[in-house]
Amino acid sequence: MANQPVIFVLNGPNLNLLGTREPEIYGTDTLDDIAGHLDDRARAAGAVIDFRQSNHEGHLIDWLHEAQAVGAKAVLLNAAGYTHTSIAILDAIKAITVPVFEVHLSDPHQREDFRHLSYVGMAAKAVFAGHGAKSYELALDVALQL
Ligand code: DQA
Repeated sequence: MANQPVIFVLNGPNLNLLGTREPEIYGTDTLDDIAGHLDDRARAAGAVIDFRQSNHEGHLIDWLHEAQAVGAKAVLLNAAGYTHTSIAILDAIKAITVPVFEVHLSDPHQREDFRHLSYVGMAAKAVFAGHGAKSYELALDVALQL
């Protein structure tokens, strides 16, 4: 329907393997399962989810720009490993006015030291981490209230 708020959900590298990837850390939900739950939740609130995954940093940057160009209401971003390395993604978040929410299945602060630094977190509006697939739902609920 026209004029429904659109929320981009952008997923970075290796998240296509959710379900089988280190399930003791990331759980057994697949990315499709997560997309399905978010879709149901967004529809119930009269919003639309645009759910994507890429293993390539530049795709995530292009999609952040696209979120701005199409007037998305918010972006939920699980940049995965790029969270901890990508100044280019930080710059892209700073270059747009769409609010970006950082999402993680695990809690990076409870893990290795190199995961404690988040470039995404330097520009994100809020961080939702450590609740498995529920982290996305919590972030969506807040984004829908904007
Ligand atoms: C992750 C946490 C990151 O540290 C890791 O590189 C990932 C997944 C998470 O959702 O818990 O790939 O973003």
